[in-house]
Amino acid sequence: MAKPDPKLIDELRHLRATIDHHNRLYYVEDRPVISDAEYDRLFDRLLEIERLHPELVTPDSPSQRVGAAPSKKFEPLPHRIPMLSLQKVTTAEEFANFDRRVKETLGTTSEIDYVTEPKLDGLAVELVYEGGLFVRGSTRGDGATGENITPNLKTIRNIPLRLSEESAGKFPLLEVRGEVIMRRSAFERLNRALAERNQAPLANPRNGAAGSLRQLDPQVTASRPLIFYAYGISETGLTDLYSQKRTVDFLASEGFLVHERISAARGVSEVEQLFTNLTRDRERFDYDIDGMVIKVDSFGHQQELGQISRAPRWAVAWKFAAEQAETILEGVEFSVGRTGAITPIAKLRPVRVSGVTVSNASLHNEDELRDLDVRIGDTVVVQRAGDVIPDVVEVVAQKRPKGARRISFPAACPSCGMKITRPEGEAAHRCLNLACPAQVEGSIIHFASKGGLDIEGLGEKLARQLIKEGIVRNPADLFFIEKQQLLPLDLMADKKASNLIEAIDRTRRTELPKLIYALGIIGVGEAAALLLAEYYGSFDRLMAASVEELTEISGIGPVIASNIYEYFRNKGNQDMIVRMRRGGLLFPDYSPKVTGGKLSGKTFVITGTLSKPRSHFKNLIEQQGGKVSGSVSAKTDYLLAGEDPGSKLQKAGKLGVSVIDEEQLGQLLS
Ligand code: IVH
Repeated sequence: MAKPDPKLIDELRHLRATIDHHNRLYYVEDRPVISDAEYDRLFDRLLEIERLHPELVTPDSPSQRVGAAPSKKFEPLPHRIPMLSLQKVTTAEEFANFDRRVKETLGTTSEIDYVTEPKLDGLAVELVYEGGLFVRGSTRGDGATGENITPNLKTIRNIPLRLSEESAGKFPLLEVRGEVIMRRSAFERLNRALAERNQAPLANPRNGAAGSLRQLDPQVTASRPLIFYAYGISETGLTDLYSQKRTVDFLASEGFLVHERISAARGVSEVEQLFTNLTRDRERFDYDIDGMVIKVDSFGHQQELGQISRAPRWAVAWKFAAEQAETILEGVEFSVGRTGAITPIAKLRPVRVSGVTVSNASLHNEDELRDLDVRIGDTVVVQRAGDVIPDVVEVVAQKRPKGARRISFPAACPSCGMKITRPEGEAAHRCLNLACPAQVEGSIIHFASKGGLDIEGLGEKLARQLIKEGIVRNPADLFFIEKQQLLPLDLMADKKASNLIEAIDRTRRTELPKLIYALGIIGVGEAAALLLAEYYGSFDRLMAASVEELTEISGIGPVIASNIYEYFRNKGNQDMIVRMRRGGLLFPDYSPKVTGGKLSGKTFVITGTLSKPRSHFKNLIEQQGGKVSGSVSAKTDYLLAGEDPGSKLQKAGKLGVSVIDEEQLGQLLS
């Protein structure tokens, strides 16, 4: 390869600086000064030079934001310093109490200097800069360990890939924290586009942000309009960064987007005033804000105040009151879920509540209907608390029209017509007919969902069609579908039919945790499915498990244990599993992903109270190929014991299992 001309290197450097500059004007300062065409011309020239001289591509080149290959899964990434959560208050009085505790702990009677910030409703992330370069970034996860989503974060245009030279020298390691959000307008646009492609819409902008960021293919993330707002750093001991105010100013000067409503406030009354203003203005922002975060400004004070369990004593989230609105209850429908539970759904005259139009709300169950004494035609108060499905909180009794109709629970399942029952001790009515179309539909959608077998293109509409046409009666039937059966269906073109067949075929080799989750055993979510796969390692062993043994797994309670046991004793389920195998679905064994790690082949059990959540240590062990199991047996190699270890320690003693503490684990890992 020809040695690049120094002039070219100069041009390249100039191009990158120019593009960075315009990126900043456009994405951070919101005041572009060149046309899109002009920007594209610069970018194309950059790509051209880099294509001819790949040896000149640097990790912080604007070209490196896109183009990383899709990954199979996200790797866990421990946070060097835990990402904490926040205590909450909802009234001025509660905030005043918080302020009083702060003063007491600091031993002062003077007013506290606070910084107030909007609480952005997105996804918390951490960005790590080493030697001034953005090297990796992760989600918050459980606070101790997140998921490594570096390539996806790089696609967010307002995240600087590099710090200034001065800061790079001053801060060899800088961990920046903040929130990734999606604007409401962008969210609505995205949902329209998804609808056009027959894909499921996202529930709210927060899910939009989280879902977009957790895409395995960074190209997809790149196509989503995400924004990063920086609100802090991980440490309080860095040179010159001695307060929150100073830190956010520094972040802004480094090109991070910092919210314009971050303000200084002295004492309770100024904070209250800012809270009132923010509440008044919240609808003006093109993104969701769910409250205000109030932080003690001085890092010295923050250090003195410390933390309790997982939340700092120096900050608090003052949440907006859930927004309510009045509307008319026009009717009630009863929906049947995948587990047969029947839920009354309020059909409302559409009304706007905190920026979203609401026309359905959950009425939960029969007891709730009775307690509310709600009737059709009633004026009701609906409330959206956070992002959850709205609730009907009360009936405005004075406004009840004459002849408002009482609501009675149906005696028969609205989907299959079978008699429904309310099992002893349960709030929900259930349809016990396993062949009930609504349940079948729900279980097929669950089976094909992202956390399950992830069958692309198999959504609600298609599932309903397949059931209606008698092509599918349970998930096992999916593995016997032939293209000829699909072609006569509405809207099913040749290409779409082939795609579905191929998508199903791809899932024949899935992983054990996904398979277990896909079955839809009541109470077994993705986390429990993973625990079961790790504990048993094979599907057959799980099928044979006793209730006692299942209960021993930490994370599996007695109710779920008995659900699992009963599920596998059911003849219909047994037949379905046999049929799945016959249809070519593989039930592969599961072993921790890493081979050849320092702890490969070693089995650990964790017990007692440790300095960080168990999941943190579990991740550390698994990253090195070790296995973590829920109970001590002769196969256990090490018991990692914290304070108050309990019966596991005794058992380990009896079986001669090595007992280690955190420090010794550190030695094994190093
Ligand atoms: S500070 C100890 N500042 O709120 C510091 N968090 O409940 C904790 N959030 O996971 C974070 N806006 O997702 C902080 N200005 C802000 C925030 C903010 C939103 C979220 C963040 C975090 C959660 C804590």
